[in-house]
Amino acid sequence: MSDEGKGRLVVVSNRIPLSKPPAGGLVVALDDALRGSGGLWVGAAEEVVETPRDHLVEHPADGYTKLSFDLTAADRNEYYLGYSNGVLWPLCHRRSDLIDFRPEYREGYMRVNRRIAGLLKDLLRPDDRLWIHDYHFLPLAHCLRELGVDVTMGFFLHIPFPTHTDLEALSQPEAFLQWMAAHDLVGLQSQSDVASFLAAIRRAPRGELLPDGMVSYADRRFRIASFPIGIAPQEFAEASVAIDGSDLIGPDRRGAKLMIGVDRLDYSKGIPHRLRGFESYLDTRGPDMPRATLLQIAPPSRSEILAYKEIRAELEQIAGAVNGKHAELDWTPIRYLHRNIPREVLAPLFRAADAAMVTPLADGMNLVAKEYIAAQDPDNPGVLILSRFAGAAEQLKSSVMVNPYDRSQMAEAIGRALTMSREERRARHVEARANVFEHDIAEWSANFLRALGDVRGPGLSVDAG
Ligand code: ADP
Ligand code: G6P
Repeated sequence: MSDEGKGRLVVVSNRIPLSKPPAGGLVVALDDALRGSGGLWVGAAEEVVETPRDHLVEHPADGYTKLSFDLTAADRNEYYLGYSNGVLWPLCHRRSDLIDFRPEYREGYMRVNRRIAGLLKDLLRPDDRLWIHDYHFLPLAHCLRELGVDVTMGFFLHIPFPTHTDLEALSQPEAFLQWMAAHDLVGLQSQSDVASFLAAIRRAPRGELLPDGMVSYADRRFRIASFPIGIAPQEFAEASVAIDGSDLIGPDRRGAKLMIGVDRLDYSKGIPHRLRGFESYLDTRGPDMPRATLLQIAPPSRSEILAYKEIRAELEQIAGAVNGKHAELDWTPIRYLHRNIPREVLAPLFRAADAAMVTPLADGMNLVAKEYIAAQDPDNPGVLILSRFAGAAEQLKSSVMVNPYDRSQMAEAIGRALTMSREERRARHVEARANVFEHDIAEWSANFLRALGDVRGPGLSVDAG
């Protein structure tokens, strides 16, 4: 990608794996994508500084170049915790009730986006392609266009696109569309996200759907499409057999089937709903239904934010209560780990689990669902219980699909998954596996970059508005 004359691929995202191993869908996916293609990856430094430097800092990397920008403590508080994760995250995950609007959050968000636009302006060459990721950088392309930067710009949103009603909860809903329109190509996870975007364009006084499939907003034309993100399934499958996952789990689950849940501790993941559904299964389990242990791995995430502190307390309370009610001397029904687990351990655990519960209330894609499928033994696979609100539900249609708000449906799904015949498990798995292996991370980035190249072809160039 960095060939002379061909232009470089420059990727920007807030999170970049500098010292810690990747946890979180975006970083896992981009690391896999860039290892295959090379290029430059720009992201936030891990430690805050008092005065941000006026240049990007290069870090050692394997296969591609990593560059970081500085953030101050105020930037982190206002741009990252405040606006990105206190306003945009709840907005896009249908939790507008949790939005914490403060003028300094929006100011900090714009300040950081403008500063990074300035740093990128110095870095970019005319034939580079810029690929911006996620809600931390909605206005970045717009800021770059204002500085006169005219390179091809693509944007991918890893989280759900807000519905029209959710967008109205923003003080300036039109700004969202104006920011999007500064790109040449906007990529979303699912068809349902594209439908939400088009609905917002249709309703906007300055928005129009053009006959050639393009979208126009104010004085700009751009393309929008869904690019469902994938994983590196082969690597995950290999990691899943490197050690035996059952050996990793202690003896206090005698006779119990193993179920697994793996999510950052985030209110969008529906973990309390999952535990409640599991509790209903235990409450109503007849003598012929198996015991089950739910291993819930939920590493800390954004823990300075109140809603995240609250979800942690809620989870601990429910897990304690369910175990108090149902545990026996040789069996603990819920095993809850509040920490990061290396992928080399996660993959064998997925393989050892008879079922996975991936039950978010809203999720752009959910890579865990795909990782669970990749880790299964095709001859004796486990069952994926999947929320219909995960982007992955558009692809993994052979899963046991649930509405996470419906406790009795969740309990029934658990019973079905744990008693399903091997024949049915195999039939469901074969379909899901084909999807995960065919539509992998390499295909995702290649599709996006191909579309980005095409959109600026002859006759489709846009005015830098
Ligand atoms: P999100 O991007 O919202 O965190 P995804 O399911 O799309 O959700 O991606 C999460 C990624 O982080 C997956 O690759 C998953 O394996 C990884 N991950 C989640 N929990 C842990 C954990 N406890 N330890 C290590 N990796 C984790
Ligand atoms: C999701 C978001 C990413 C984010 C990740 C982890 O995957 O789409 O942008 O990096 O969660 O969250 P964090 O706040 O720790 O970066």
